[in-house]
Order: sequence, then structure tokens, then C-alpha cells
Amino acid sequence: MRRCRWRSRFCRIADPVQSLPKPATERAFLGNALHTPVRGRLEYLRDVLIVAGADGGIQAVHPKGSPDAGAAAARFAAAGGLVTLGADQILLPGLIDLHVHAPQFPQLGLALDLPLEQWLQACTFPLEARYANTEFAQAVYESLVGTLLANGTTTAVYYGTIHLPATQRLADICLRRAQRALVGRVAMDDPQQCPAYYRDKSAGIALAETRDFIEYVRTMSGNGGLIRPVITPRFIPSCSDGLLRGLGALARESGCHVQTHCSESDWEHLFVLDRCGVTDTMAIDRFGLLSRHTILAHGNFITDDDAAVILRHGAAIAHCPLSNVYFSDAVFPLRRMLERGLHVGLGTDIAGGASPSILDNARQAVIASRTLESGVDAAQSRERRRREASRIDAPTAFWLATAAGGEALDLNVGLFREGYQFDAVVIDANSPAGNLRVLAQDAPEHILQKIVYHCARADVHSVWVGNRLVHERSEGMRS
Ligand code: GUN
Ligand code: FE
Repeated sequence: MRRCRWRSRFCRIADPVQSLPKPATERAFLGNALHTPVRGRLEYLRDVLIVAGADGGIQAVHPKGSPDAGAAAARFAAAGGLVTLGADQILLPGLIDLHVHAPQFPQLGLALDLPLEQWLQACTFPLEARYANTEFAQAVYESLVGTLLANGTTTAVYYGTIHLPATQRLADICLRRAQRALVGRVAMDDPQQCPAYYRDKSAGIALAETRDFIEYVRTMSGNGGLIRPVITPRFIPSCSDGLLRGLGALARESGCHVQTHCSESDWEHLFVLDRCGVTDTMAIDRFGLLSRHTILAHGNFITDDDAAVILRHGAAIAHCPLSNVYFSDAVFPLRRMLERGLHVGLGTDIAGGASPSILDNARQAVIASRTLESGVDAAQSRERRRREASRIDAPTAFWLATAAGGEALDLNVGLFREGYQFDAVVIDANSPAGNLRVLAQDAPEHILQKIVYHCARADVHSVWVGNRLVHERSEGMRS
């Protein structure tokens, strides 16, 4: 079988050097903002004043002209705590990525020509095995976290590898750079599916190291809930029944989030049916791994019964529309699942998807849904190839990238609302470096559509997490 080769060093890509975030202080943000509190519905907040506290939370949202807005703005201006956005800037809620394989960053955009089961064995497991080298992990993870922040991702849900020290480094880096993160040490012990060079030596070791990792993250000095541990069985094919059962018990005991892959491709879906006699979702449930805090990646082949079980638990799906093009064999029935009431957010699935940007995935979510609705095979009649009522619109895609991601995680992020965390992205609507062009006459719904279709890293001016400045575009890219 083909095996991807990796050179021994990871050269750090030219990430603009960022100074470390300072502690939050009380401040207020004045300018135009937009968010999507409800699926498909945009709220454009013109000249809004958003007050954020030293605890990182939003204390007040004063609409333009409200009785308190003027006095509060004057008070913050006098104290030097007023951040005034430019006329061409727009404040967005921070973007939420529900599914990132941190160790796969070096192969982003590579090796997308194989089916999932071959790609894992030939490319991905050899790469992930390299994280036994903690220095290598440090270099990759620094670069990845910097890249995601620069793209506006304020919350990321990460898979690490089976290596405890490397995964601890990932958590350390997220904490130091103040990216909100849920991080998991990957568990995978099944000798049938995991190569000897990259697998947990036993279920007991995988469980013990998962416990150690939870303890490590929960006691990291200065954490305060910014970084959370995630119980991470890679997927059923990689794990023994004993390990899955043990991790289910640990999930109940610890109250941690859980992440795993579910019904991603034909191969995966059928593999689990064959091994467990039930669908992936039902098996994950039987192992005690399904709860309000579970994130199932992909879910492309879930049945209506599966959806009912996921809904009953309040678990979430990380929809990864770019990755699905390469590995899933089908288009996720997104709208159908949203209409059933499932929690769904977006994931890059680095490196299954070739982009680190959640907005690229928001765009692709629209495109995939339109493709499902129209069908793909021109040789079939229109009636045979269509799947009616499948399309989503741009406001729904933006909602998936922000508020819905927050809901999926059961965290108060993704909206400008009192009691939510101040996680935000300032974009330049007319930066010469970018493609986004917002005109004075554009209506709010047009501004949102342009953001979904055009906004990219070059348009991101600055990024805030918990009212801390975590990224500023480097001078070289300034407009
Ligand atoms: N299923 C199990 N592991 C993986 C992975 O690393 N990426 C994707 N896309 N699917 C998986
Ligand atoms: Fe994945």
C-alpha cells in the first residue's frame, strides 16, 4: 500500500508574530455589527455599543440612540476603553469550528485522492504518529492556532493524537494564545484497524491517559474554562468495545464533552453496521457516548431513527461540507436535519477539508445544499436527480458558523447578547488586500451575503476572545 512520506522537520510557515493577549479589561465597542440569533434571520446592529467586562462577558448591548448608549460611550472614552470601529469595519461574532484534526495541518490540501479508509492508513496515521516528537507538535500546533485565529476562528474543537504530551502542548498553546478550545487526546486501540506504530497499547492505557488529560486541562493554571477537555474515541472502527464502554462511563462521570466520527462514508457506515449490528449512532449511544455534550462529525448517512436518538440526547453534528466532497460519498441532508431540530454547526475537518476557514465551509454548505436540491447527474431526469427543499441560504450558513456552533457546544458564544462571551471578529469591508466590497447602498442582507461569499483572512482586521485581543492583521497586509 502507498505510504505518504514525511520529512523530519516542520518548518514554521511565516506566521506574523503576534504579541500574547493581555488580560481583559472593561471596554466598549462602538460600530456596526451583525449577527444571526435565529436560523436564517439577520440582525444588523447599526452604531451599536457593546460593553464587555473584565471577565470576558458581554455586559450590555446598547442600540443606537438608546438612553444609556451616549453616557456609556462617553464614560468609556474618558477612561480610554472605547474601541471605535471605522466606517468600513463590521463586527461579527467569532467563528466556531466544531471539528479540527490539529495534527493533520501539515497535510492540509494534500492527499485528497484516496478513499477515507486508505487515506487514514497511507497518509494520516503515519503523519499523526510523528507527534511522539513533542517539539514537532509544538511547531505545528503554534502555526495552526495562529492560522485559525487569523481566519477568525475564536472557538475550535480539536482532535490531538494518542500522545499525551503533544496534546497537552496543544492545550497549552490555545491557553497562551487565548483561543477558546475543546481539546481531545485521541483514543484508538483496535489492532484490526490501527497500525502497530500508531495505536494505544491497550484500552486501559487509553482510558488512563484520557483521564490524565482531563485532569491536566482542568487544572491548567489560568484556564478558567477557556480550554476544555473532550473525550475522543476516534471512531468505532478504531476502538475496541471495551475502550468505547470505558470512555462512555468516563463521559458520564466527568461531564466532559465527547467527540467522534459518525456515519461519515459508505465504508464507515457499513463497517459499523457489520461489526455492531446497529448503526453508528445507535452503537455510540449504547456505549454511553451520546449526550447533550457530544459532537458527531459528519453524520452523512444517519437514518431518521438515528436523527431521533441524536435529537433526544440534544447531541450535535459537526457538518464538514468541504471534507465531505472528498471522503463522504454523499451530501449531508443539512436542511432536513435542521428542520428536525438537530443541533448542527460547521467543521473544517482539517485536513479532510482543504481550507482552514469556517467561512469557506459556510460557503460550501450553501453550495452542497444547492447541489443536493438540484441533483448532480445530468443523465437522470430532473425528477429523479432532485431532492426537494434541501437548499439553505446565506444567513443560515452564517448562523451555522456562529450562533449554531455555540448552541451545539452548549456554550454562550456566537451572538452579541448580554451574558454571552465577547468573542468577535472585526472585518474590513473594503480592504484593498481582500475581495470583500461593501457599498454604501448595500442593504444589511446584501452585506451578509457578501460576507458569506467573499470574506477571507485578508479581510480580518482583528480578533477578540473573551474581550482579549488575540489577533491583529500584520502590517504587511494592512489596507
Ligand atoms: N474517521 C476517522 N478518523 C478520521 C479522520 O482523521 N478524518 C476523517 N475525515 N474521518 C475520520
Ligand atoms: Fe474528521
